[in-house]
Order: sequence, then structure tokens, then C-alpha cells
Amino acid sequence: MADIPSAIPLEKIPQHVAMIMDGNGRWAIQRGLPRLAGHKAGTENLRRVIRASVEFGVKYLTIYAFSTENWGRPPEEVKGLMYILEDVIDRELNELNKEGVQLRHIGRLERLAPSLQEKVLDAIEATKNNDRLVLNVAFNYGGRDEIVLAIQKMMKDGIAPEQVTDELVSQYLFTAGVPDPDLIIRTSGELRISNFMIWQAAYAEWYITPTFWPDFDREEYYRALEAFAHRDRRYGKVSSGELQESNA
Ligand code: FPP
Repeated sequence: MADIPSAIPLEKIPQHVAMIMDGNGRWAIQRGLPRLAGHKAGTENLRRVIRASVEFGVKYLTIYAFSTENWGRPPEEVKGLMYILEDVIDRELNELNKEGVQLRHIGRLERLAPSLQEKVLDAIEATKNNDRLVLNVAFNYGGRDEIVLAIQKMMKDGIAPEQVTDELVSQYLFTAGVPDPDLIIRTSGELRISNFMIWQAAYAEWYITPTFWPDFDREEYYRALEAFAHRDRRYGKVSSGELQESNA
């Protein structure tokens, strides 16, 4: 196990990995369990994935835990996901601190219960000096909502149209100061972006696996990083090899 991280050169490890943790419900239904049991198993897996991210040298991990659309799920499932967030903070804060994980939130806190909002803000404050991994928890997050909010803020700040640039828009997003994701992993085989980091994903590489989130283990995470290490990221240009050939 210990030899695994060194097999991928550090410069090929994505700086920022974002994950759409999909398939908890189907994982549970396959086992004849209630959907919330799938979210609980997903939470256990999240713990493993955070630890593996630190181990592999990933610097930013963003997880899609609750979307602006998830309010439309049955009330007991919504309540359960709120409870999971609260419980994860209560139980994992010490461990996150020990691992050097800095917790951040992206999305809107307003619609959450005041006590939960406070808990999230306290956890952010308590981990703010940790620097091994930044963990962005997307909770009550929507990519379109984020862009709408950014436009509203820019207008309130009196930004003139000609001042609006790529960089400026990025600074008005929840992810201001965070590099765009290099790799987005989606579990459970769905081929959709689902309103996740729609601005920031412009040049992200995708890794989509049929594995349900609770079963997405360290080995498969490693395979995703290996696949990423072999990608030729051209950003709309031509590969560096081709450029050298044409200049020769
Ligand atoms: C999508 O699977 C998953 C979610 C909407 C919730 C993800 C939450 C966790 C993994 C728990 C960790 C949470 C926090 C707050 C830290 P799905 O329910 O849509 O699965 P399905 O498509 O099979 O129904």
C-alpha cells in the first residue's frame, strides 16, 4: 500500500479533485435498505476518500453533498442529509484537524437551521489554519445559483461591463481563490454535470465510473488518478508534442 502514492509522479497528481458522490440510493435499494442507509454508507466512504486525498497529495477536494435541487427530495431524506452534515462535523472535527484538513463550505447557508449554520461556521473557523488539504463541502450548492449570486454581487459593487473578465467572475464565486478542479469524478455511471461547478469545470478532466459512491474505494480513486496522469490536457490548443514537431 505504502508504495502506491509514489507510483504517480507528484506533478501528475491533480491539485484539485471534485467529486459527485452519486449512487447512495441505488446502493441501498440493491441491499433492500432505506435510502438513508446508503447516505450513511456514503458518509463512511467519504472519510476514507478524505484520508486517501491527503495521502495522495491532492490539495483541494470538493464534494457535492447537497444540491439546490435536493430540497425536492422526500422530507425525511432532506432531514436525514441535514442530520448527516451535523453528525459528520460533531464526530469528525478532531480527525479533520489531526489530518490537517481545512474545512470550507460552498453554497448558501441561509436555508439551513440556524444551529447548523453556526456549527458549520465554527468548524470552518476551527480548521482554518490547516494546510494539508482544503475540503470544500458543497451543501445547498447549485452552479447556476452561484453564477446568479456572483452577477448580483458584481452589480451591487457597481462593476462596469468592461471590467467583467474571466478572472473577476471567478473572484465572485464561492470558490474565489481556489484553483479550478483538474479532475471531476462522478460515481454511479451517470453522464451529467448536474449543476455542479459549471463555471469552474470548463477544462476539468472527467472520470466516470459505474461504481456506486459507497463502494468507490481507495484503489479505484487511485485508478482515477492514474487515468488523469495519462490525459493530454490541451485547453483548446494542440498538444505540446505536436507543437514541437511543427516547430522542428
Ligand atoms: C447522491 O446519491 C448523493 C447525495 C445527494 C448525497 C451525498 C451525501 C453523502 C455521500 C453523505 C455525506 C454528506 C455530507 C453532508 C458530508 P443519490 O441519493 O442521488 O443516489 P441514487 O442516484 O442512487 O438515488
